[in-house]
Amino acid sequence: MHNFQFYNPTKLIFGKGTLEALKTEVPRYGKNVLLLYGGGSIKRNGLYDKVVTILKGVGANITELPGVEPNPRLSTVHKGVDLCRSEDIDLILAVGGGSVLDCGKAIAVGAKYDGDMWDFVERKAAPQDALPLGTILTMAATGSEMNNGSVITNEQTEEKMGWGSPHSYPVFSILDPEHTFSVPRDQTVYGVVDMMTHVLEHYFHNDVNTPVQDRFCESLLITMMEAGSKLVDDLENYELRETILYCGTMALNGMVSMGFAGDWATHNIEHAVSAVYDIPHGGGLAILFPQWMKYNLETNPERFKQLAVRVFGVDPSGKSASEAGQEGIDALRKFWNSIGAPSRLADYDIDDSRIDEMAEKAVRFGPFGNFRKLDREDTVEIYKMSL
Ligand code: NZQ
Ligand code: ZN
Repeated sequence: MHNFQFYNPTKLIFGKGTLEALKTEVPRYGKNVLLLYGGGSIKRNGLYDKVVTILKGVGANITELPGVEPNPRLSTVHKGVDLCRSEDIDLILAVGGGSVLDCGKAIAVGAKYDGDMWDFVERKAAPQDALPLGTILTMAATGSEMNNGSVITNEQTEEKMGWGSPHSYPVFSILDPEHTFSVPRDQTVYGVVDMMTHVLEHYFHNDVNTPVQDRFCESLLITMMEAGSKLVDDLENYELRETILYCGTMALNGMVSMGFAGDWATHNIEHAVSAVYDIPHGGGLAILFPQWMKYNLETNPERFKQLAVRVFGVDPSGKSASEAGQEGIDALRKFWNSIGAPSRLADYDIDDSRIDEMAEKAVRFGPFGNFRKLDREDTVEIYKMSL
């Protein structure tokens, strides 16, 4: 293991009826609340009315910023920063999926910075302060509810990049599985793929002696597959929603990844695709991650074999590590196909015409990935394998 420090200040408030916690959490931060949400799902499922009733009940002054896009845009962040200043906002309350939460993080740091928040994404400056951000998560996928990461799309330059800071953790996050009942089947699938990929990105690392972390990751993957396969045909099952919601948070809140550096190349490769084509993040990962695995099988076949045997039940007898590992990759592909995830870029009508451009975006900060460093040519190859 690497030496490590673990710090996660987000208060996680999980379970049925936990929206009530807003009554005690909001007044801690002040009266002026920026209510941030997406394209309207919270109005259709009734959550908006419940939140507004509670906020009014505690005497909050509500300023609204609706319309946060899936793959949230910099122009929306700018609108939020302006509102925080003009309305003297004390607390940002983000109600939605990962996109709304990520936008909330960007607004929170942008409101305390004189320059353009995009400077943080480009690593030209680092946040020194932030407004407090509370979240009510409505979709299990990203883990944004309990981490400091955020992914923003600059629609003018067609760039989509992640950033993070010790100042960008939510101060509290409310997770009620019932708030995720209305997530449609396709988004539910993308969420399962995204959280599985987070665990897999952790899993492919080069540190040694991580048996506890390995088994944390393996148990999450097995549970995500067990619950996910049932959930896609039973969308309002409380226990399944509860399990998947908890899995999504645990996959990317730092708890299972202490002491090693995961790979994360595929996230970079996918962000470049959704920057150009605006596809759902989980859909892009479902296509790209198995191809990344295939491309990297020989980097450490034993690692792939361990995954295949322990998570996918592959019988290794009489097989080389690479052969067993390949069966694990095939089993992952088969599972994602079985729940209806896309498998080729062509599923989103993406052809080879902008591959060079996407690869250029992916290597923006130089070669990337920790399990194996990938350069521009590697990235082009993985895109070609995914067509
Ligand atoms: O906008 P609304 O109307 O709310 O609809 C959303 C959106 O259309 C809908 N939805 C969410 N909750 C719902 C619901 N529909 C019905 N009922 C509900 N309860 O789902 C659609 C997708 O929402 P979005 O927030 O975009 O999905 P997700 O949570 O997958 O977030 C994706 C974004 O997060 C980034 C991705 O790159 C992408 O931009 N990521 C953020 C990470 C982080 N902060 O740690 C890590 C991830 O790897 C990821 O990169
Ligand atoms: Zn992801």
